[in-house]
Amino acid sequence: MDFERELLMIPGPTMVSPRVLRALSRPVLSHWSNEFIQAFTEALQLQRKVFCTEGYPFLIAGSGTLGMEVAMANIVEKGDKILCAENGFFSERWAEIVEAHGGVVDHLKFEWGQPVDPKRLRERLEEGDYKAFTVVHVETSTGVASPLDRIGEAVRGLDSLYVVDSISGLGGMPVKMDEWNIDVCVTGSQKALGAPPGLTLLCLNDRAWRLVESRKTGVSDYYADLRRWKPVMERPSGYFATPATGMVLGMLEAMRIVLEEGLEARWMRHKAYSEAFRAGLEAIGLRIFPEKGYEAHTLSVPEVPQGINDGELRRLMRQKHNVVIAGGLGKLAGKILRIGHMGSATTNDLVATMGALEMSLKESGYSLKLGEGVGALEETLLSKG
Ligand SMILES: Cc1ncc(COP(=O)(O)O)c(C=O)c1O
Repeated sequence: MDFERELLMIPGPTMVSPRVLRALSRPVLSHWSNEFIQAFTEALQLQRKVFCTEGYPFLIAGSGTLGMEVAMANIVEKGDKILCAENGFFSERWAEIVEAHGGVVDHLKFEWGQPVDPKRLRERLEEGDYKAFTVVHVETSTGVASPLDRIGEAVRGLDSLYVVDSISGLGGMPVKMDEWNIDVCVTGSQKALGAPPGLTLLCLNDRAWRLVESRKTGVSDYYADLRRWKPVMERPSGYFATPATGMVLGMLEAMRIVLEEGLEARWMRHKAYSEAFRAGLEAIGLRIFPEKGYEAHTLSVPEVPQGINDGELRRLMRQKHNVVIAGGLGKLAGKILRIGHMGSATTNDLVATMGALEMSLKESGYSLKLGEGVGALEETLLSKG
């Protein structure tokens, strides 16, 4: 097996552009050097563009979960009520983080695979005195995308902060933070923005920042306290804790690529990839797990066909065809497959993945006509221009 020729098609980390790899391979820079300070300054400017916000950007070393934790460490004070909209594995994580910071969670549950319903959310928010509510944009555990725009519309005028995990959406699906009234938004470097794992990016708007500043009690986490980070993000020549200099260079290159492509064009490309990949899956008889009309554009989630062992299938795909895809999480383990097509994924990657999936399914005993999935995928891609 040649790992250097492996095609990584899990829903993050993803394949990254050689431009990003080159940026990552540069000699280590001092965080006091002009080169680094310039790069960090530009990265923070681009971060606001990719989040579509005029708010405050924070770029901190750690995975997406750290970004979620940072958000809650700064928002929640002991006893604060937070409403968590839960429709999968990662949205349930929000509740655990809130509780770890002394918050009191109310759960608004939806079936796994269903999106968050803006109307039900508004109704629950009106019933309780919630300081904030949480929504996961792309629930990577089920492949469903919740309608952030309609949620933002539905909650207009309410005091609760709108806190979003778009770790698997931002950069691949529209997230218009300011236009959609999102107060806090979190993502990670390794998903649709197209860099390796290692950084979390979050933005707060004015309303969220005022709330952080008006806390009655201190933030109990030293490293996660945004009041320590804000001066550095405003003037990257300052110091609080050593930034991940190499990763920032990679992230900067990745965000340059995003903006060179253009956000709208990138969102359309991900939409086309998602429609094409789903067409291929359906052509070989696989059922799509998330609710129709709410499928995420950054990954596809088919159900594992009856009688097929998903671990064996994924092993075949990797060992014989050098394509890595992911299985289900939590209660969906063994029941679904999760195939990422985000960030710098190309049409070649989609065709190769569908081909590998067809061959591996056939070798596992599933009955299908080889090429039907690839054919439908290609037809759909061509029809999108
Ligand atoms: C929607 C979502 N939220 C949170 C996370 C956790 O991010 P990380 O693994 O970078 O900590 C993930 C990771 O896959 C995710 O997809």
